Amino acid sequence: MLIIGMQNSVKLAKSIAKHAKAQFSELNSKHFPDGESNLRFMKNVKGQHVVLVNSFHPNPNNTLIELVFATRTAKDLGAKKVTIIAPYLGYMRQDKAFHPNECVSSKYMGELLNCADKLITIDPHLHRYKNLSQVFKTKTKRLSANALIAEHINKRHKKAIIVGPDGESYQWAEHIAEKLHHHAVVLRKKRYNSTTVRIKVKEEVDWKNKDVVLVDDIISTGHTMIEPIKQLKQKKVRNIYCIAVHGVFVLDAVKRLEKLGAKVICTNTIERKESKIDVSELVAENLQK
Ligand code: R5P
Repeated sequence: MLIIGMQNSVKLAKSIAKHAKAQFSELNSKHFPDGESNLRFMKNVKGQHVVLVNSFHPNPNNTLIELVFATRTAKDLGAKKVTIIAPYLGYMRQDKAFHPNECVSSKYMGELLNCADKLITIDPHLHRYKNLSQVFKTKTKRLSANALIAEHINKRHKKAIIVGPDGESYQWAEHIAEKLHHHAVVLRKKRYNSTTVRIKVKEEVDWKNKDVVLVDDIISTGHTMIEPIKQLKQKKVRNIYCIAVHGVFVLDAVKRLEKLGAKVICTNTIERKESKIDVSELVAENLQK
C-alpha cells in the first residue's frame, strides 16, 4: 500500500501511513502560470494499492479536479487499486437545488470521484441524502469522529451540557452526548443566507454557571455557533466550547467566536492550529476493512 499526501492533507497522510505501517509519498503538484494543474507521482505506483489523501478545504474545486487527475493517472500507470480518502468531503451541503435552475453540485462531485475504486470519508454532511450510495456508485466507507470527540469532552468537560446548534447537528450532538451518558439539547435554526441565521436557545434548560459544548459537523462562517453563544452568554453560562469535526473556518470565524469568549476545537480532517483531535489512527484502522 502506498499512501499519498496531496496538497491539503500531507501531515495527516503521513500520520495515517505511520499508523497503517505503510509507505508514504507526496504528490508533486504544480500550477502552470495560467493556473492549470500539473501532477506527478514521486514513487512507482505500478501494481500498488494507491491511497490518495486530500481534504476539500481550502480550494475545493482544485482539490476535486486533482483527485480525479491523480486517480486516473495512477490507474493509467498500472495501480492495482485506488482509494481516495477525503477526510472532509466538500460539496455535500449542496444536496438540492435551493433556487430555480441551480446546480446540485454534490451529484456531479460524486460522479467525478466514481473513477476511484473506493472512497473513505469522515462525518460527511448527510442531511437530505441518507447515505453515501445516493451520491457515489463506487464503494464508500463513512467513518465518524464522534467517539474521539466524546473522549475529548469526557477528559476535559465531563459535566458540560452538549448542544447541537441546529436540527441537522443531532447526528453529532445526540451521538456524542449518548457516549457521555447525557442527553443533548438540539436547537432549531432558520437560515436566510450563508451568513444570516436565526437560532433560539431553549428557555427551559438551567444554563446558569454551566459549561456548554456546542458540537456540529462543520464550522464555516461560524454564524451557526455565534447566534446561540450570544444568547447563552446572557443566560450566564460559565464556559463555552465549540467543537466541530471539520474546521472550515472562513471569514475570520475563529476570531469572531473567540471574541465572544468561546474556545474553538476541531479534528485534523482539515489541518488547523485548533485541530486538537487526531483522526489518523481511526482512518488507518479502517483502511483495510
Ligand atoms: C449545516 O447545517 C452544517 O451542519 C453547519 O451547521 C454549517 O455548515 C455551519 O455553517 P456556518 O459556520 O457558516 O454557520
